[in-house]
Amino acid sequence: MIKPDVGGIDIPPFFKLTAFDTVGSTNVEARHLAEAGAPEGQIVWAKRQEQGVGRRGRSWVSPEGNLYCSLILRPDCDPAAAARLSFLVALAIRQAIATFLNPETSLRLKWPNDVLIDGRKSAGILLESKVKPNGMMDYVIVGTGINIASYPQSTDGLPAISLKEAGAKVTVESLLSAYSYAFLELYATWKQYDFAPIRELWLSHATGVGERITVKLSDETLEGTFAGLEDNGALALILDTGERKLISAGEVFIVPPVS
Ligand code: BTN
Repeated sequence: MIKPDVGGIDIPPFFKLTAFDTVGSTNVEARHLAEAGAPEGQIVWAKRQEQGVGRRGRSWVSPEGNLYCSLILRPDCDPAAAARLSFLVALAIRQAIATFLNPETSLRLKWPNDVLIDGRKSAGILLESKVKPNGMMDYVIVGTGINIASYPQSTDGLPAISLKEAGAKVTVESLLSAYSYAFLELYATWKQYDFAPIRELWLSHATGVGERITVKLSDETLEGTFAGLEDNGALALILDTGERKLISAGEVFIVPPVS
């Protein structure tokens, strides 16, 4: 396998970058490295993936021109805390993308971890993890796909967008660099102060807070007002009955106001 030159990419020394032209899935490659003992900070980056994996077992179409990378973390926490890393990752992607977009562009976060440009999905995040026998994390693989040159036709029922279509002038390498710096800063905050500042920052960029939303769960669809994000990352939904429901997994759709 020919490996692209990674010498020119500016990333903080915390990371070790391993690059490929083509892999099946960077998440799978990262998992193999993690199982073989690779330390926290290892990034697997590929120009294209032949079997990119999305959420809920979907595939992630991965032609050349977009960013596909997977980062190995070894956080000293339990699975519930590790799951909240997805908010941090969405923030890091948002911050990295913002560097290259016109500041007027709408760049919002949708629960739990979508990054929307003008209401359209610009990236995908897939966390995979392994727990040690003592119940703490062995590793977390943070898989990130960011649409730079192209985008899939449909993702989770959301329209998608590429950075190019949004007017950004960005290369895969410069986005990887911006993402790595943004991630490291947020991860340092998370390690020092836990989830609280990440939650605040996430809420400050979130879409739909205080608005009517529907939430599609595995067995039912609920409608109500998006009341905010709990300390544990759950979405707080106030139903029309006044009941407050906490949602930890589901798909959110913002209900357009009736005119
Ligand atoms: C989603 O369905 O929204 C998540 C998509 C995650 C795709 C990324 S691309 C890099 C990494 N490798 C994979 O196979 N998947 C993730």
